[in-house]
Amino acid sequence: MKAEKKSMWNERYGSDEFAYGTEPNSFLAENAALLTGPVLSLAEGEGRNAVFLASLGLDVLGVDGSEVGLAKAHRLAESRGVSIRTEVADLAMYEPPASFYGSVVSISAHLPGDVRRRLYPLVERCLKPGGIILLEAYSRSQLSRSTGGPKDPDLLMTVENIKHEFPDCEVLLCQEIEREVVEGEFHTGLASVVQFIGKKL
Ligand SMILES: C[S@@+](CC[C@H](N)C(=O)[O-])C[C@H]1O[C@@H](n2cnc3c(N)ncnc32)[C@H](O)[C@@H]1O
Repeated sequence: MKAEKKSMWNERYGSDEFAYGTEPNSFLAENAALLTGPVLSLAEGEGRNAVFLASLGLDVLGVDGSEVGLAKAHRLAESRGVSIRTEVADLAMYEPPASFYGSVVSISAHLPGDVRRRLYPLVERCLKPGGIILLEAYSRSQLSRSTGGPKDPDLLMTVENIKHEFPDCEVLLCQEIEREVVEGEFHTGLASVVQFIGKKL
């Protein structure tokens, strides 16, 4: 992650408020029964999703480039009486171990195309056979809305891209939908999102 992006995220997470709230992403919560551990959560931010998964008894590692966000994630975990593991890392260079994880979760991890093309084969490789990748991100259609998400089309998802980016997965769900996303100050209403659930072959 470029230095200016890292300081932008650290600044955003520097307040006492949780930028995306403390409740889990609802697509994740609805589909959590599909997940087994250990879970790798990409771009975990302030910990709302990792803490939720830990509360279900799952072993979770949250990776993010913002040390301020991950420090907050540990405070949230402590306040909920659960334990999570975290790692400060740039996903542009991150390399998870092969055939290790039961699940990978990627919620609002809006990464540049070149970073995704490098990372996603490693994500598939890090799953055990039958492992699950669950992803939700704003779609390109979100560009015309002001309810959240980046304004750079390269960071936004399309159904076509995502299908090709996980070729070693059986697609259990791949759709673009409009839904209310109300998650703290920065995700604030009707939004276009891509949702993907794949099962490692
Ligand atoms: C919109 S926030 C989502 C946070 C969290 N997934 C959630 O749903 O609450 C995006 C997160 O991606 C992280 N991020 C962006 N680019 C990254 C990179 N190259 N490496 C690691 N983390 C990155 C940011 O630090 C930020 O925490």
